[in-house]
Amino acid sequence: MNSQNILGTPLQLGNKTIKNRIVMPAMGTGLASAQGEVTPAQLRYYEERARGGAGAIIVEIACVDSPEGKASLTQLCIDRLELLAGLAELAETIQAYNCLAMVQLHHAGRQTAPAVTGLQPVAPSPKACRFMRAEPRQLSREEIGWIRKRFIKAAVIAERAGFDGVELHAAHGYLLSQFLSPYTNLRDDEYGGSLENRLRLLREIMEGIKTRTSDLILGVRFNLSDFVPGGLNLEEGLQIAQLIEQYGADLLDASCGIYESGQTSIETSSFQEGWRMEMIKQVKPRVSIPVVGGGVVRRPEMAAQLIADGDIDLVWIGRGMLADPDWANQAIKGHPEKIRPCITCNTCFETINKGHHIRCAVNPKTGREERLLRPLAALNNTVLVAGGGPAGLQAALSFALLGSRVVLAEAREQLGGQMLVAQKPPGKSPIARLQQYLIDEVENSSVEVRLNTSLNSELLTEVRPDVLVVATGSEPIIPDHSGIKSFYSAADVLAREVKWKEQRIIIVGGGSTGCEVADYLSEDNQVTVIEQGRAFAADMENMSRLETLARLKHRKVQLCKMTILESADNETVTLRHLDTDETSSSSYDQVVWAVGNRSVVPDLDPETLPDHVFVIGDAQQARGFSQALYEAQMLPYRLL
Ligand SMILES: Cc1cc2nc3c(=O)[nH]c(=O)nc-3n(C[C@H](O)[C@H](O)[C@H](O)COP(=O)(O)O)c2cc1C
Ligand code: SF4
Repeated sequence: MNSQNILGTPLQLGNKTIKNRIVMPAMGTGLASAQGEVTPAQLRYYEERARGGAGAIIVEIACVDSPEGKASLTQLCIDRLELLAGLAELAETIQAYNCLAMVQLHHAGRQTAPAVTGLQPVAPSPKACRFMRAEPRQLSREEIGWIRKRFIKAAVIAERAGFDGVELHAAHGYLLSQFLSPYTNLRDDEYGGSLENRLRLLREIMEGIKTRTSDLILGVRFNLSDFVPGGLNLEEGLQIAQLIEQYGADLLDASCGIYESGQTSIETSSFQEGWRMEMIKQVKPRVSIPVVGGGVVRRPEMAAQLIADGDIDLVWIGRGMLADPDWANQAIKGHPEKIRPCITCNTCFETINKGHHIRCAVNPKTGREERLLRPLAALNNTVLVAGGGPAGLQAALSFALLGSRVVLAEAREQLGGQMLVAQKPPGKSPIARLQQYLIDEVENSSVEVRLNTSLNSELLTEVRPDVLVVATGSEPIIPDHSGIKSFYSAADVLAREVKWKEQRIIIVGGGSTGCEVADYLSEDNQVTVIEQGRAFAADMENMSRLETLARLKHRKVQLCKMTILESADNETVTLRHLDTDETSSSSYDQVVWAVGNRSVVPDLDPETLPDHVFVIGDAQQARGFSQALYEAQMLPYRLL
C-alpha cells in the first residue's frame, strides 16, 4: 500500500478541489472569547493544522443562535455580523496554506444547560438528556422557522467571511440530530413522525442555504446510529444519507452517537482503530457524492487502506491532528514514524468540558501555540538531563532542537520511565506508541543517551553542564504493614505482568491506578478495592472512568469507599469504615498498594551543581505524564 499516493490525491468537492484526502473534522476548542469571537490563540491553533498539510479543516462547532443554542461558554459563534471580521481572518489564515476552510454550523438544542445559556434548553420535544438533566422546552413551529433562518444566515456570514464551505451539524445528538432521531423527536406535526418529516427542518435549511449562497461546499454531518434504544439505527442512517444527497449536499460526513452514548462519538482507548468503518463503508455504495469518515484512525497506513478499499473518499483525522498538527504532511511524505501519536486518552475533551482551553496530553503546544511556538534563539550550552521517562525524553529533545549539547542519563537499562507501566492496563497499549515515538526521536537526534547511569556528583563533574534537568521520576509509596504476608505495588503488578489466578486480592487505593490494576486483575481473581474517599477513579478522564467502573461492576469487583486498611496478619485483613467506624475482617491472598507515588530526587553536592537546575515531572510532584511533557516543553522558555 502506497499511502503517500493515495492520501495525496486531490478530489473535487462541490465547485472546489481538495488537495489531498485528509480532513480535520470539527473539534471544539474553547478558544473563542466569551462573546463567541475568534481569538488570536484560535488563529494560531488552526494555522498550525493548516500548515501541517490538512486538505480541509472543518472549523469547530459555531453557534448559529446564541445564547440559546450554545453548548459551552467560550464557543465560537457565527450569528452576528460583528463576528464577520474575525471569521474572515480565520478563513484566510487556513486558506493561506492551500487548505480548504469550512465551518460547522451548530445549535445545541437539549444538549446544553441553563448554566451556559441562562435559558431553558429547547428541543423538538420536551425530553431531557440524561447527562444535562435540564428539561427542554418544545419548540413551536414559529420558533423552528426562526432557527431555520438562523442557520441560513450563518451560512451567508460564512460565505461573506470567505469560507469555502459549511457543514451542518446534524449528528451527535445536537438540535438537528434531535429532529432526525425518533429517540428525541416525538412530535406529531409536519416536523415529526415519518423520516421525511424528521428531516424536514434539515431539508429546509439546506434549500435556504443553496438559494442564499452561491459557491459554498455544503456538507452535512449526520449519525448512522445513535447507539441508544429507540434512536436512529443503521438502516435509517443509510436512508438519511441518500436523502441528504437528494436535498443537494456536496459532502456526507458520516458519524454516530449522542451524549447518552458518549464514547461512540468520541471514543475511549478501548475502541479498536477504525471500528466505525463497518457502518460507514455502507454509505458509499448508496450515494454518488464524496463521503468523509473516520474515528480512531491513527496510522496513515490505515487511512490509506480505507480510501484504497473504497470505504470512504476522505478520511478525518481528529485527535491525531491535536497530538500532531503535522499529521497530514508526515503521512503524505511517507514518514508515519515521525507522527507524535494520539493515545486516545480524551484529556482534550475533558479540558474543554471543564471550561478550559483545549489541551492535549501528548502535545503540550496544542491550544498553547501562541505561547509555546514563539521562536527561541539557538543555544550553545551543555544540558544534562537525568531520567529517561516522558519528562526527561521531552526535555532532552526540547534542548537538542535548539542546538544544545545534551546528555541524557537513565539509571535503568531502558528508556521509558512511567510509560513502561502505564501501557499495561487494558486499553492502554497506545501509550507504547508514544514511548516508541519519543525514544525514536531522541535516538535520531544529537542527544547522547547513557543507560545504567545515575545522577550523582561524579557525573556532574564529568559532564560539567550549564543546565541540569532533574527528571528522575517517582516511586510507589509502600506503607509500613509488617503483618501482611504478600504485597506488591500496583506498578510492580503491571510492570511484571503478574498473572494470578483465583486469588483473593485487596487493592488499597481506589484512584485511577488502583482501578486500572483492578481492571487488569479482575478477570481471573476475586478483587476488592478499598478507598478512603467517596469516589473511585476520581482522577481519571470521565468517559474512561465510567467505562472502567462499569467493567469492574460487571466483573463483580467489590468497591469499598470510605474504607481503610486497619491491620493485617498472615490470614486476614481488617478494614475500617470511616463513616461508621465499624470494622470487618476478611481473608486474602495478596495486597496491592495503590496509594500514590513519592518523588525521587537524589542528594547532590551543591558545589557540583550548575547555575540552572530544573526539577520537572514526577520528580517535582508525582502526577500524570501530560504535566511532565508540558514542563519539559516549557524549560527553554524558563531559561531565557
Ligand atoms: C476535543 C474534541 C472536540 C470535538 N468537538 C466536535 C465538534 O465541535 N463537532 C463535531 O462534529 N465533532 C466533534 N468532536 C468529534 C470529532 O470530530 C471526531 O469525530 C472524533 O474525535 C473521533 O475522531 P478521531 O478519533 O479522529 O478523533 C470532537 C472531538 C474532540 C476530541
Ligand atoms: S489529549 Fe489524548 S486523546 Fe486528545 S488528542 Fe491528545 S493524546 Fe489524543
